Amino acid sequence: MNDYWIAPSILSADFARLGEEASAVLEGGADMIHFDVMDNHYVPNLTIGPLVCKALRQHGIVAPIDVHLMVKPVDRLIADFIDAGADIISFHPEASEHVDRSLQIIREGGAKSGLVLNPATSLNWLQHLLDKVDLILLMSVNPGFSGQEFIDSTLDKISEAREIIDTAGRPIRLEVDGGVKIQNIGSIAKAGADTFVSGSAVFGTNDYAATITAMRKAITDSCS
Ligand code: DX5
Ligand code: ZN
Repeated sequence: MNDYWIAPSILSADFARLGEEASAVLEGGADMIHFDVMDNHYVPNLTIGPLVCKALRQHGIVAPIDVHLMVKPVDRLIADFIDAGADIISFHPEASEHVDRSLQIIREGGAKSGLVLNPATSLNWLQHLLDKVDLILLMSVNPGFSGQEFIDSTLDKISEAREIIDTAGRPIRLEVDGGVKIQNIGSIAKAGADTFVSGSAVFGTNDYAATITAMRKAITDSCS
């Protein structure tokens, strides 16, 4: 895999052709599939569950599937997504009664664990958990919908999170989700992110390969 991972969010894909859409972004150079799970309770929208994750595997998707849980409660769905073939499972700490336990359930199931911090959620959540997370996902929009504008104050938060990760010396991925596009992905990378979710800015274009290539070039240009 590349050093910088691009993870198109299938929330913006054509759901009637989901398998083809997932294959198309991967053929276009994406590193993994970002899979947004919304429950109409933790967030005001309703999307897809483990059955759809399993269907993508059965369709032949072998790339990592990065499951972003926007659900409350969290724990029961973790096992379902592991059975369905998820590689990374992230959740919002506000949505879990016992965050440490939820992280452990993910790892014990054999998946990589991720903690998702909303724009207004403090990085302090990480303080006692750094040894239990494989990925930190910083939301650069409020969760619930694709197509929202990137919140600029996230850039400083990315730099702070990068410092925390580097100081700890742990192999934790730093992912950013919301409003990521060709025009801002360079500055997001420069601030310290290494993993980029992008929904509408990928699936809203006609040529996925060209878009992903342009994103990768923007990252390299601003980080070299
Ligand atoms: C928002 C989701 C995002 C969303 C990103 O709650 O978690 O993954 O699909 O979409 P864009 O890239 O369009 O902001
Ligand atoms: Zn997401």
